[in-house]
Amino acid sequence: MLTAYFKPRKPKADVPDAATLLTTGNVGDFKPGSVTAYPQGRFYLVRLADGGFMALYRQCTHLGCSVPWDEATGQFACPCHGSAFDITGSVIEAPAPRALDIYPIAIENNIIKVDIRTPTKRNTFHKDQVAYLKEKV
Ligand code: FES
Repeated sequence: MLTAYFKPRKPKADVPDAATLLTTGNVGDFKPGSVTAYPQGRFYLVRLADGGFMALYRQCTHLGCSVPWDEATGQFACPCHGSAFDITGSVIEAPAPRALDIYPIAIENNIIKVDIRTPTKRNTFHKDQVAYLKEKV
């Protein structure tokens, strides 16, 4: 029925649901230094050399092109105007003005979950943007 189009939308929930909290797999599924694309969430799951995880939004911070990972150079290389980003998403070649946006990650019982509701803007990489598996005490 046409009136369904005119109903006000429900406000977004404060907590992620199954559609916005993507389970990417077990910690052990990802090698240190790896980059894995998740096209359905428009992000890359990065496992840094020290074992930490980041979820990088794939949209270039210059004018919004999708940025592919280049395994040969170990960089994200934007095809539109030549910006490049390192594995943490930090700018290594302009014109991009800042690092790739990130999504929050939760690691529970060895399972990695990425909250894809809203990417977080940042200027550059900082260690507290990395999610680590907490050791059991
Ligand atoms: Fe990526 Fe311009 S959109 S460099």
